[in-house]
Amino acid sequence: MINPTDELRPPTRLMLTPGPSCVSPRVYRALASPIVGHVDPWFTEFMGGVQVLMRRVFQTQNHITFPISASGTAGIETAVVNVLEPGDEAIVCVNGTFSSRMADIAERTGAKIHRVTAPFGRQVDPQDVRAAGQGRKIKFVGLAHGETSTGVLSKLEGFRQVADELGALLIVDSVATLAGVPLDVDRQRIDICFSGSQKAISAPPGMAPITVNTRIEDLLRNRKTKVQSWYFDLTTVMNYWGKERTYHHTPPVSLIYALHEAMRIVLEEGLEASWERHRQNQAALIAGLEAMGIELFVRNPADRLPTVTSVVIPAGIDGAKARARMLNEFNIEIAGGLGDFKTTMWRIGLMGYSSQRANVLLFLDVLERVMLDQGMKLPVGAGIAAAAESYAHAEPVPVGHGD
Ligand SMILES: Cc1ncc(COP(=O)(O)O)c(C=O)c1O
Repeated sequence: MINPTDELRPPTRLMLTPGPSCVSPRVYRALASPIVGHVDPWFTEFMGGVQVLMRRVFQTQNHITFPISASGTAGIETAVVNVLEPGDEAIVCVNGTFSSRMADIAERTGAKIHRVTAPFGRQVDPQDVRAAGQGRKIKFVGLAHGETSTGVLSKLEGFRQVADELGALLIVDSVATLAGVPLDVDRQRIDICFSGSQKAISAPPGMAPITVNTRIEDLLRNRKTKVQSWYFDLTTVMNYWGKERTYHHTPPVSLIYALHEAMRIVLEEGLEASWERHRQNQAALIAGLEAMGIELFVRNPADRLPTVTSVVIPAGIDGAKARARMLNEFNIEIAGGLGDFKTTMWRIGLMGYSSQRANVLLFLDVLERVMLDQGMKLPVGAGIAAAAESYAHAEPVPVGHGD
């Protein structure tokens, strides 16, 4: 029981969830820095540095690049409400909970949204997007680069091509991919890209980095109606993150410090090195899981999201009980499934500071213990041995980052 008057003492968990991930001690130190006013000249200059780092992480020259003062869902909301006006039509590729959320939010603007779907565990087919858009005036094609609810990665190139054919913008949710999976906003010609602070960037939750290109700036200038959201209206919030630094709302100063430090860590490691670390740690995790006889939810290896691995809970295992034991006895948190997969799926996140070799090996060991104790027959030690073998064949990358 937590006594409300006790000093704050949260447990120190190993976060192997699909977000939030663990945070480097450097980021905790940044969080504890003194608060300044949000129009203090020191802070308004510091904001420019945050934007410089964010452009590097997104790989863009886009002028409008800044952290929205709210979680990843605010990224979805900002992207769609700034683009859509009543009567517009758009396509959202739906292959899980978060891409479905983009469609739900877009529908609230009064626009007509065409959902192009794929079975959960698969990418949407760009050909289906082409067919859905034929003969229509489509404002944007939107998708989740990494669909965290199922652990699916979508290749962006086919969607960019179809969006071009339809004369549409491309909106990409990179909440689960930015800094963990190859993504290059300018080269891939993404018109709006947004992310979340709490995943592969490994800052605390609560901010949504966003970047929009000049096509969107033009579109904003030519809107016929006001953006339906006051808080997420880019035309006004950009006066604060733009040259003027005019007050719009009081931003979470401490979270911005933390995000700055987390992005410094990402860039010190280097984007390519970070992507490779995420790839290698997932490869070792998968090798270990498969050696233990655990089935991957995403069948096609090319569709697997490197930051989140979804697995089918083995027959005879009580998934919720196993997760509770990992949390209570070993301080490790993984996630269950969402929606229809609530009781049949586990999702294991290896993102940002959590994506470390030691964590993979510890998790496989704990999982083995928990499953053996629930009566599953499995070859003892096979998981860790397979993961170690996977690492033995990988190019060396730095173990962890940012201590
Ligand atoms: C792909 C994706 N989009 C959007 C979100 C929503 O982010 P948040 O929970 O930070 O609002 C998530 C959260 O997990 C996500 O994984």
